[in-house]
Parts: sequence; structure tokens; C-alpha cells
Amino acid sequence: MNKVKFLMSFALTLGILIQFSCEKNVEEDMGMNDPNEMECEPGTSFSMDVKPIIDNNCISCHNGSVQNPDLRTYQAIKNNSARIKELTASRVMPQTGSLTDDQIILIGCWVDDGAPDN
Ligand code: HEC
Repeated sequence: MNKVKFLMSFALTLGILIQFSCEKNVEEDMGMNDPNEMECEPGTSFSMDVKPIIDNNCISCHNGSVQNPDLRTYQAIKNNSARIKELTASRVMPQTGSLTDDQIILIGCWVDDGAPDN
């Protein structure tokens, strides 16, 4: 391989590497608002953070009157916490209305903390 060819292939490789790392950065930036890529604040509170979200967005349906989980008490919410995290993150629930990304992240973080009664 002569010097020119070597330099050209070197430059080409460098170009591919740079492009690759830029694409990776774009993906990382886009992930910032993705509830599945959660950044949890330590100590998410059930009574201060999670309960008000459930009260305002879920218990209009989940109030024990029909055949879906009753979500009015801490114990019931804890018992269903894994499904609650899953269904809010995928936006299946609430069935009507919607949660903000921050609310979804709060719920997910609280569940990941072990769903404490705090
Ligand atoms: C408009 C009514 C309505 C609202 C509001 C609502 N849900 Fe539901 N939810 C349902 C119904 C109906 C079902 C049972 C049928 C089904 O699974 O689709 C259900 C099922 C569930 C289940 C059990 C699903 C399973 O398969 O285990 C969970 C957990 C749940 N909802 C969580 C929530 C949470 C959390 C919220 C609030 C963020 C919420 N829901 C808001 C109507 C609602």
C-alpha cells in the first residue's frame, strides 16, 4: 500500500468513526425524555408524589366498583405496583387521560424503590 492510499483509508475510517459516535450521541439525547430511561431522585414519596397521581388519574375507575384492581389504598397499590409501573410506562393506563413523563418516572422510581409506604 502506498502512502496516499494509506492516508485515504485512514481518513475514511476516521470519518466512519466520527459519524458513528455522533449517531450514538443523538440517540442518547433522544433518550432523555423517554420514561423507560429513568433518572430517579432518591426518596420518592408515596404520600407526597405517588398517591396524588393515582387519586387524580386512576381512582375514577379503580374505586372498587367494577372488575379492575381497586387502587384506593396503599396496600392495594403496592400489591399491583409492578403492573402499575408497566402499564403507566407503556401508557396503557390511564385508560382515559394521560400522565406526564415526570409522573410516569415518579411512579416507576417509587416501584423500583420497593414501593415503600413513605
Ligand atoms: C377510564 C377508566 C380507567 C382509568 C382512568 C384507569 N384505568 Fe386502569 N383499568 C381500567 C380497566 C377497565 C381495567 C381492566 C381491563 C383491562 O385490563 O383493560 C384496568 C386495569 C388496570 C390494571 C390491571 C391490569 C392487569 O392486567 O393486571 C392496572 C394495574 C391498572 N389498570 C392501573 C391503572 C393506573 C395506574 C391508572 C392511573 C394512572 C389507571 N389504571 C387508570 C380502567 C381505567
